[in-house]
Amino acid sequence: MPSDTTTRHRFYGRRKGKPLTALRQKIFDDVFPKYKIDPNQFFHGWNDGENGRGELWLEIGFGNGEYLSHMSRSRPDICFIGCEPFVNGITALLASLDTPVQNLKIWDDNARILMDGLPDHCLDRVYLLNPDPWPKTRHHKRRFVQKDSMNILSRLLKPKGLFVMSTDVAELAEWMHLHAWAHPDFEWMARSKDDWVTPPIDWPIGQTRYMKKALGGKDIYWLIFKRR
Ligand SMILES: C[S@@+](CC[C@H](N)C(=O)[O-])C[C@H]1O[C@@H](n2cnc3c(N)ncnc32)[C@H](O)[C@@H]1O
Repeated sequence: MPSDTTTRHRFYGRRKGKPLTALRQKIFDDVFPKYKIDPNQFFHGWNDGENGRGELWLEIGFGNGEYLSHMSRSRPDICFIGCEPFVNGITALLASLDTPVQNLKIWDDNARILMDGLPDHCLDRVYLLNPDPWPKTRHHKRRFVQKDSMNILSRLLKPKGLFVMSTDVAELAEWMHLHAWAHPDFEWMARSKDDWVTPPIDWPIGQTRYMKKALGGKDIYWLIFKRR
């Protein structure tokens, strides 16, 4: 598993925000190592049919982890991997877990580095909620959804696996839609003409911090694609 962040998969966001409080630092030092993923160990024997493991869902850029916090506690039958290089977000997620959970692993670097090392067709779902929009044209290449990331997702998702995206930025929604729609292995799951602004049927929580910031008349756009 390469851990190089300098060249192919450079991460452009923040890894640190405000200094961690003493409690959050303790969480990072003592609790985070229990959740930090070792992909080589984790995937050895995963879903080989003998250990009867359930579905595997990946969230890319979980921010403060509202979705993973809710889901890892309410769906112990599913295993979740969350990717987030922002230390303050990782500690926010871990602080929100009042009791430890066994079905959550965290990758604290660029999701693409982890994804490159994952086995084929190991994922049942991938969530990309409110990714950084990178609005300037010269920064569009930094957006997570690109032709090559769609190829990786095609390799990683099982047939009928879902790729769920959201954003409050209309232009980014169009970008993500176009890239996913153009990929021959993905099918848009639109159920109605209002599908763009309708959360997935099983969306369990209100809004993440970023969705709340988007409120004030703006819509959240949802895009759900199925791996053929
Ligand atoms: C705008 S925030 C949204 C956070 C969260 N998904 C939400 O809806 O509240 C985007 C997050 O994605 C993370 N991120 C950006 N690029 C990433 C990458 N390549 N791999 C993993 N996380 C990434 C950032 O650190 C940031 O926390």
